Amino acid sequence: MEFVTLCAASCATALLVGRIRTRSRLIYVGLASGAIVALTHIGADTIVGRAVPAVLESDALAATGGWWHYLSWLLGESLRVGVFAVLAAALVAGALPIIEKIFGVQTDLSLLELGDASHPLLRQLAQRAPGTYNHSINVAAIAEAAADTIGAHGLLTRVGAYFHDIGKMFKPNYFVENQDANDNCHDALQPAMSTLVIIAHVKDGADLARQHHLPKRIVDFIEQHHGTTLVEYFFREASKRSQEAANKEEVSETAFRYPGPKPQTREAAVLMLADSVESASRTLVEPNAARLQSLVDKIAMKKLLDGQFDECGLTLQQLEQVKSSLVKSLTAIYHGRVKYSGQATA
Ligand SMILES: [Fe+2]
Ligand SMILES: [Fe+2]
Repeated sequence: MEFVTLCAASCATALLVGRIRTRSRLIYVGLASGAIVALTHIGADTIVGRAVPAVLESDALAATGGWWHYLSWLLGESLRVGVFAVLAAALVAGALPIIEKIFGVQTDLSLLELGDASHPLLRQLAQRAPGTYNHSINVAAIAEAAADTIGAHGLLTRVGAYFHDIGKMFKPNYFVENQDANDNCHDALQPAMSTLVIIAHVKDGADLARQHHLPKRIVDFIEQHHGTTLVEYFFREASKRSQEAANKEEVSETAFRYPGPKPQTREAAVLMLADSVESASRTLVEPNAARLQSLVDKIAMKKLLDGQFDECGLTLQQLEQVKSSLVKSLTAIYHGRVKYSGQATA
């Protein structure tokens, strides 16, 4: 009997709980599963007939309306069980942060709290590196939509995108999205040194995230969003300078690659692609659907051939879906917008 009620409680909660994005929804689920448990209790009691003899023996049945007494007793019992289910939901809502901490998981509720623009790290990013903040917001929007199309965790991808470049806030002016047209800090640096500064934003960001106790899954996004890709512009610049020099020494690619790891989840792969296409789309002179499509195709193919998607479990079919979603989102962003020109990718 208790087993049937417990099963009903567990199944009802598991089916109703789905994606909870507000605490009040958690209480609604508690109320609904409480009602289901109460009804199950009535049903089970009636089928087994366990409750009937107890009531029949009572003095109350001697009076008229014995069945009424039986029903009200049954309802009272069911209500008691239902109230416990609602109380359990309230308890879970309160204890959620502790449960998440102990088991190292993030519910949608805590992800939503993390993704709030008033988060201290995001506020600092907006103040110190407004260009990067703006880029992160755009990446978050297009990455969430793309992740949702392949059934990946869109909200997690969005929150990961908000934080992916927080490491840039230490040296914002070395990144193109924060630079003025006539002010390029890299002019005074050797390509190898510029590469070191650029690559450092991944480690700096991950360290900063850990200091602020961001969940591991968010730190993973920061560490994996560039995978082991090549910092192409400065690699080409270094190769060019080396060819012009007297000794013509071969430049090794390794020093110009991010340390990785490569994306380990589909969400991280989506973020990597969204990040690259958002930055690159700013260099298009007249962005339109066809140009955005060819840009996304080119970047996705380059990353695929470079082996960046080898460890994330993304299928080629899903990659196609992600690409279409990114083109759609970018086309919507650039629709009727003033064109950007003369910018290099971040
Ligand atoms: Fe980055
Ligand atoms: Fe980025």
